[in-house]
Order: sequence, then C-alpha cells, then structure tokens
Amino acid sequence: MRTQVGIVGGGPAGLILSHLLHLRGIDSVVLEVRGREELESEIRAGVLEQGTTDLLVETGVGDRMREEGSVHYGVNLQFGGRRERIDLHELTGKAITLYGQHEVVKDLIRTRLDAGGQILFEAKATELLDLDSEEPKVRFRKDGEEHELVCDFVVGVDGFHGVSRSFIPAEVRTEYERKYPFGWFGVLVEGPPSTEELIYALHERGFSLVSTRSPEIQRLYFQCDPNDEVANWPDERIWKEMHTRLDTDDGWTLTEGKIIHKSIVQMRSFVCEPMQHGRLFLAGDAAHIVPPTGAKGMNLAVADVRVLSRGLVEFYTSGDTGLLASYSEVCLRRVWKASRFSWWMTSMLHRFDEENAFQYRMQVAELGYVTGSRAAATTLAENYVGLPIEAEPKDVEERQTAYDAP
Ligand code: DHB
Repeated sequence: MRTQVGIVGGGPAGLILSHLLHLRGIDSVVLEVRGREELESEIRAGVLEQGTTDLLVETGVGDRMREEGSVHYGVNLQFGGRRERIDLHELTGKAITLYGQHEVVKDLIRTRLDAGGQILFEAKATELLDLDSEEPKVRFRKDGEEHELVCDFVVGVDGFHGVSRSFIPAEVRTEYERKYPFGWFGVLVEGPPSTEELIYALHERGFSLVSTRSPEIQRLYFQCDPNDEVANWPDERIWKEMHTRLDTDDGWTLTEGKIIHKSIVQMRSFVCEPMQHGRLFLAGDAAHIVPPTGAKGMNLAVADVRVLSRGLVEFYTSGDTGLLASYSEVCLRRVWKASRFSWWMTSMLHRFDEENAFQYRMQVAELGYVTGSRAAATTLAENYVGLPIEAEPKDVEERQTAYDAP
C-alpha cells in the first residue's frame, strides 16, 4: 500500500488532519486500532475552543455541532461559599462550545468516508520504519495479517499509550512529566441540567465540576483518589458527595438524574520534545498530555494538526520544507502555554493535602483575585477560549474573533 501521509491513529487529531489534507488534494490513510463503534462511543471531554469550532465550520464538518452543540459565553468559579462568573465573551470576544469529542469523531468519520477517504479500523500499527528516508513506512496488523504502508510522511496521533512516540530515538527525545495525587471521577447523567454554564468548584472536600452534553445529559466530575474504583461509588454516595461540594446557601442545589456512565480519569502533565524526527511527526496526546481542568486536550491536538497541515500543504505545493522544519518548535511553544494553564487551573481548584489549611486559604484567595480583578479574569478567559495559533495567517485569527454577541 502507498499513500502520501500515513496517519497512525483515528482520534480527532488524525481524522481532522486527514480531512484538511484531503481538502488540499493530499492523500492519506488512517490506521486505527479500535473498531468504528468503539471509537464513536468513547466518552471524553466536551469543551471546544472557538478556534476548534471555527475550523470545523469552515471546513464543512460543523453542521451538526452548530445544531446540537451549545455555545457558552461564560463559566463559573465556586469557592469559599461564593459563586462568581467569568464572562469569557465580554473579556475576549470569544466563546466555547459544548459538544462531545465522540460526536466530533462521528462527524469526521462520516465526512471522510463519504469523500472516499481510507480509514482502516482494527488496524494495529506495530512498527515505523525508515523515518530518516524519503519513504518512511508503517507496519501494521489487520485481520491477522501483516501489512506495510509506504508513505512520504508518517504522523503519530495514536495517543499517550500509542507506539509512535517510541520511534523518536531515546537519545534525541526528552520527556517531561508531572503526576497529580488525585483523579477525576466522571459521571454522565440523564436528566435536565443543573446550570446553564459550567461550574468549577473548590470545596474543602475537593474539586468538582458541573458540565453538560445536551439539554438531556449532564456531565459531572469530582476529585477522587487516583486508585479508587468505580465499584466503590454507588449512585447515592456520588450524589451525597456532589451535593456536599456544590450546593449553595442561596438555595441552589444540584439537579439529580439517572446515572448512565461512571469512570475514573488519571491526571498527569506530560510533554515530549521534540515532536518530530526525520519524517515522523507527533501530534495530540502522542506528544503531550494535560490534566483535564480547563479542557485543553482535544483542542491542543487540533491546533497541532492545523500547524502540521500547513507545513504539508506547503511541501506539496512548492517543495519547501520550512514550515515542516519549524513544526515542533511552533507547536511546543503553545503546548507549554496550555500545559501551564492546565497545571495552574488544576493547582488552584484541587485539594492536594487535606491537612494543609494554609494552602487551602491561598487557593480561596487566588480564586477571589481571579474573579475580582479584570486583569486576572482576562488571563483565565483568554487561555480558556484558546490562545492564538502562531502559524495561522492574520486573517484567520481575525475571523476567529468575529463571534456573534449573545
Ligand atoms: C469538561 C471537561 C473538562 O475537562 C472541563 O474542564 C470542562 C468540561 C466536560 O467533559 O464537559
């Protein structure tokens, strides 16, 4: 098999890249280890930065998102018995959209297949070869047989546990990691929403978050022991914990519903440098992980492939390799900024050490400052809606700010 760009991984990053390349007449093959159904039903985050939604709309895959997603112009921070709103739109001119990652994946798969795109499901990449040559290759196993995909470029978008990253030789690869001493317990709830806009809450018992997926589905999270198990949390215990952390004195109470899904997410920060070696390019979770607070994961992956697609388009239209050569450097600058933001949001909103009353008071003071100072609120808001992508031409950035006022 031969293609121009071999894409290892069929998550949002791989699928969007394949779509962007197709729009510019560049061929790709996507290899995805999971089956289509599994990929389309995996519950992940659901906050799209404005740059992400704009890209989906501008490239013709945003129709269902525009109909079913919901645009949020602000978020709430709750701490020390108060709830304060950060007006994202007033502070930045931008907004976010709530729409599940697996819905984005569904829309992309359908669009790629309708256009004749090649996505090989249940295809397990085992080895990347000849990355220093002009004909890199991906070995993969499908239906019990070994295959080889010959490419001009290989893109590793196979997530944190994927094989791609290991093919950047250890001598030239540096990995930075920080683990957090807690996890997120996530639940999906059938029933009406408790709130119109997200609530990020710090309580003496730990962090919690009220989000939404649709008018009928709530998405809730609370800080838990990273080694805890779903089986330890019957529904009544979850509701009791969430009410304790969230209910306010003014009578607001979390609306209960039917819990239809429970899971525990581990939390870590991780960055691999560089993100490129020879003709292998890493993007998304294969190259970096952020803790979920602030919902940067998928948005960072989309930003990476946006930069990469520009480099590949430049190469195929003019033969120039300038943008490809700067790929890693350009992405990493933004990756580190998003890592800093996610680490900061995580640090401000979680209990690290329940014995440490001083640290808790510092956190409450910081939240008071962030919500009380316009300068500090703007710092949060501009990171939350998404920092600009350096490699974008100016006109794209300007289009991104042209958001309808609520
Ligand atoms: C969601 C996830 C996040 O990590 C976050 O910061 C906000 C919302 C969500 O899944 O809805």
